[in-house]
Amino acid sequence: MMNEYLSFYEKYKISPVVQNIDDFKQHVRRRTNLYRQLGVSPITFKDKDVLEIGPGGGYNALVTYTYELKTYTLVEPNTTGYNELKNNFKDINNNNIFIFNDMLEDFKVTKQYDIIICEGLIPGLSSKDSFINVIKSLLKPNGIFIMTTSDQVSVFFEIVRKYMANILIENIEEIDKKVEILVDSFSSHLKTLKGMTRSHSDWCLDNLIGDAILEHTLTINHAIELLKSDCYVLGSSPDLFTNYSWYKELPTDTVEYNKIFQEQFLKKWHSFIDYRFIQKDRESSKNTELAEYCLALISAIKNSDKKKNILDILEKIQTNLKADIEEGTILSMDEIIEVISSGITPEKIKNMKFFSSAFGRGQSYISFAKENSAL
Ligand SMILES: C[S@@+](CC[C@H](N)C(=O)[O-])C[C@H]1O[C@@H](n2cnc3c(N)ncnc32)[C@H](O)[C@@H]1O
Repeated sequence: MMNEYLSFYEKYKISPVVQNIDDFKQHVRRRTNLYRQLGVSPITFKDKDVLEIGPGGGYNALVTYTYELKTYTLVEPNTTGYNELKNNFKDINNNNIFIFNDMLEDFKVTKQYDIIICEGLIPGLSSKDSFINVIKSLLKPNGIFIMTTSDQVSVFFEIVRKYMANILIENIEEIDKKVEILVDSFSSHLKTLKGMTRSHSDWCLDNLIGDAILEHTLTINHAIELLKSDCYVLGSSPDLFTNYSWYKELPTDTVEYNKIFQEQFLKKWHSFIDYRFIQKDRESSKNTELAEYCLALISAIKNSDKKKNILDILEKIQTNLKADIEEGTILSMDEIIEVISSGITPEKIKNMKFFSSAFGRGQSYISFAKENSAL
């Protein structure tokens, strides 16, 4: 069965995850920074069997390949993404690259892999848990799994933009016209993101026109929950966890070992709402409440609720955050509430002073090492 990504991408024959990699050296350095933070330095990849699920056109895969893998298997079901991927790898004619035009669910394989990468995919699926379980079964003992999470708090500002976008394009039929209106309205926001490697039109297609973002409710804690029976957390990007334990006193049982990550995440979750600031830890219960309101906002948008309901939820979120968060976030929320109340227009969106640079932490990366149960 097709998911939100595939039905949207296939309908319009797109793969809106193209990156500008003209400066390939810099691209390699950026990606290597990411892997290093995840505890997976290039030498870990050397001579390994690596599986990547949903690589799109393979812009990141081109970097991973430079780490001298033993084999590289790529599984990409979207026709446009698959063709782009084939094209991007066409000059690399080593016989250790295997590209499949399949969904993971239909990928028939009996072998297991040393390293599995799945980036920018699972949070957008409605069947997250079973997908992760399939991946786990493909991982060798001691193997490493790198995935992304993205949740209702980390995409809160993107969800607000999605709500605004829905109103701006509600009577527009043509996809190109929709993209034009949204790029015009939100470019001043996207320009504030210095590290961005995607085009504004791809970003708008993927996040504001496609509906996958409304499925983004995969928290770091839930990912740990699903993997904790036989995997250890290895690293994360952003790198937010600390552990002062003497290694001889660390729990060796995976469930116990992972607990400290889960506890810390709950205290830090509000720092995911606005990437511009790092907040002091706060009570977990406040963050659980915040997440409930952010989830309610997603449901309200899915159900096309009235403006009043949306505003009520936004006010609850603001009240929850007020005592514990930087003024910049609160001012951004004031502005959002004001623009929604008075009526959304491209002109107003373009000129939002505080909200224009307010983005959540969106996608986070987390890596896991599977235990070797034979030992
Ligand atoms: C948002 S894109 C991310 C692409 C790339 N990994 C990146 O981070 O730039 C999600 C990708 O997952 C692919 N995909 C969707 N459903 C899939 C499935 N069931 N199995 C494997 N890949 C899938 C999509 O076609 C798309 O290329």
